[in-house]
Amino acid sequence: MTMSKLEDLKQRKTKVEEGGGAKRIAAQHERGKLTARERINLLFDEGSFVELDAFVKHRCVNFGMDEIEIPGEGVVTGYGLVDGRPVYAYAQDFTVLGGSLGEMHAKKICKVQDLALKMGAPIVGLNDSGGARIQEAVDALAGYGEIFYRNTIASGVVPQISAIMGPCAGGAVYSPALTDFIFMVDKTSQMFITGPQVIKSVTGEEVSSESLGGAMTHNKTSGVAHFVSANDEECIAEIRRLLGFLPSNNMEAAPEVYSADDLNRIIPELNEIVPENPNKPYDMKEIIQAIADDNDFFEVQPYYAQNMITGFIRINGQSVGVIANQPKVLAGCLDINASDKAGRFIRTCDCFNIPVLTLEDVPGFLPGTSQEYGGIIRHGAKMLYAYSEATVPLVTLITRKAYGGAYLAMGSKHLGADMVFAWPTAEIAVMGPEGAANIIFKNEIAAAEDPQATRTEKIEAYKGEFATPYKAAERGFVDDVIEPSMTRIRIADALNMLASKRESRPAKKHGNLPV
Ligand code: HXC
Repeated sequence: MTMSKLEDLKQRKTKVEEGGGAKRIAAQHERGKLTARERINLLFDEGSFVELDAFVKHRCVNFGMDEIEIPGEGVVTGYGLVDGRPVYAYAQDFTVLGGSLGEMHAKKICKVQDLALKMGAPIVGLNDSGGARIQEAVDALAGYGEIFYRNTIASGVVPQISAIMGPCAGGAVYSPALTDFIFMVDKTSQMFITGPQVIKSVTGEEVSSESLGGAMTHNKTSGVAHFVSANDEECIAEIRRLLGFLPSNNMEAAPEVYSADDLNRIIPELNEIVPENPNKPYDMKEIIQAIADDNDFFEVQPYYAQNMITGFIRINGQSVGVIANQPKVLAGCLDINASDKAGRFIRTCDCFNIPVLTLEDVPGFLPGTSQEYGGIIRHGAKMLYAYSEATVPLVTLITRKAYGGAYLAMGSKHLGADMVFAWPTAEIAVMGPEGAANIIFKNEIAAAEDPQATRTEKIEAYKGEFATPYKAAERGFVDDVIEPSMTRIRIADALNMLASKRESRPAKKHGNLPV
């Protein structure tokens, strides 16, 4: 081979690696953003990334595009290792024509999507793009459609993770929305279907792009995103951490990560955590952390619907998805957003063979017209559906309240839980003692000489008889009433027993989830 050919290869590669050039790279850094290649290098184990399609070129001739060079087509694609496991990725390069997506840019993304699906490995998309490359018109739209289609086909087969690390406008938001998890970087990322200018011209409403579609908007208000990070480095570190809780595909189990934490650890403080007064809140996260290996809890959607907690822990090195009511927020009531959040997370765990642990302290569904008009029936049903269709091991622990429909909804035996534990503080009943006594003893209370004293007496009688775990345990709806301090040991044992669980469902095309 002549040296000139080698030199030519080197020059071509360098040109692609330089992306949009020093000036645009500096501008990217000034905004606090890393370049596509810097992000890729952080994502993968050192030296493991293999780039594909560096030489791909667009073939658009509209608006003088045939004169324009677009190194790497504005996207870096390839594969590598994350903690030693294969992962596929693409990173849009904002320094190259704003990371805009044209026909060939999309083809590069589709290629890694296809490889990830065939090889059974996760795919990570790092999005930073002005959206459809305007010059390429319908070819750009077609490109998005091809990506959406692949996102959907891969859903539930390989984990798909999206990070929004810059603008993400128009239909472009739908690829991330079709994936399993969305990360956003605070202050430098936005997602919206129609931007501020379009909104102003159509509705007259004035809104900044940050307020419309910034990281906190989607983490707190809309629930579109799952995580917010302070900067690119933190975002990528968190993606790596999340991948550690997930299997490579739906035929595998999540990697086991053993720690020195004693499996037989007794936790005396749990005996004291539920307050005497049933109306007094406590922090459910303390229980989650207490039972987790190394007290490590990786919370998912920490800012959205905080009355419901979702996230990952490990017990005996095994990845476990946690769904828990938070008595500190809205008394742990179920509402529309909490149901959506939990339903989605249960399905994510079920797709990827991750057992679900439910921690329950729920007084009921949140009453009110806003909930009813908003379709709590439809949204709550998604959660019931998610539990009932799940075939992964399901372990439920009732710490305190488990009332009415909410008792059923939160991973009850009746919806398929394999093992239901209750603490002695559990109150499993149709409703709270006050409400129940007022209804069933209505006449006696009304006829009493001292109605207030009779009401109190009846409430106490109801509490003693029904607001306990023992009625449910008598029926076998609760498998055991356990001492709180023994919770980690008993849950670990249950998960170990359930590790070989196999459950099949009737053949069908797919169920009809009340979306
Ligand atoms: C072609 C684009 C582009 C696009 C940006 N650029 N977006 N080129 N198509 N969609 C180019 C710019 O011309 C510029 O080129 C470079 O990228 C950087 O853009 P700037 O505007 O200088 O950067 P900034 O000021 O940071 O603004 C970023 C931006 C803005 C907010 C993203 O560029 C913007 O509003 N772009 C258009 C967004 C949009 O409306 N996209 C279409 C959405 S609809 P030079 O050469 O000067 O560096 C859509 C439909 C998808 O995506 C449907 C799927 C179903």
